[in-house]
Amino acid sequence: MIISFEGGEGTGKSTYTELLCAHLDKYGLPRLSLREPGGSAFSEKVRGLFFHEDIDVMTELLLVLSSRRENIVKMITPALSEGRIVIIDRFIDSTLAYQGVMGGLGVEKVRAIMEMTGTWLEPDLTIVLDIDPSVALERIVPGDKFELRDLAYHGRLRQAFLDLATGARHRVIDADRPRDLVSRDILSIVDEMTLKRR
Ligand code: TMP
Repeated sequence: MIISFEGGEGTGKSTYTELLCAHLDKYGLPRLSLREPGGSAFSEKVRGLFFHEDIDVMTELLLVLSSRRENIVKMITPALSEGRIVIIDRFIDSTLAYQGVMGGLGVEKVRAIMEMTGTWLEPDLTIVLDIDPSVALERIVPGDKFELRDLAYHGRLRQAFLDLATGARHRVIDADRPRDLVSRDILSIVDEMTLKRR
């Protein structure tokens, strides 16, 4: 089973990814967790290049997909075959939102490229953390090129994630609430799914 966390900057993906991992560990459920771009040693190197200031959006796409391809082949597929739950902090929806919508490549084209390159792998569950960017950006110290973009960009990005969250696998969670309420919602969705599969 693959569970991805998605959403704009400062929505708490890393926090809730860690929280979910701790929850699964508590119940002895084997899991693999990773972030994208990044993950394997190779993919972490790609992550360094990905944040380079002045690269073309297609180059950005090819970099993130090379990171994903390595993760899928070397880490995700083996973990799934061992029956582990794979938790990913950003995955295919981030590529559709950032490079497809915000970068202007188009959602259909980006999806087709992912399908052609074996990097389109649909999670069983995608948690979309939703929060007003003016609140979310207060939570972070902007560092990389995406985080430094203006509020209008982050507003459009939020809408892109919401527009993409139409599949049966998507659950949009209001992340502008106390952490215990947000985590309660996430854990109950995951518990229901993992129990159903046993
Ligand atoms: P983060 O690990 O702090 O969330 O940073 C990852 C950044 O990479 C974030 O700004 C979104 C961006 N990104 C893309 O542009 N496309 C992608 O496919 C992925 C996975 C991330």
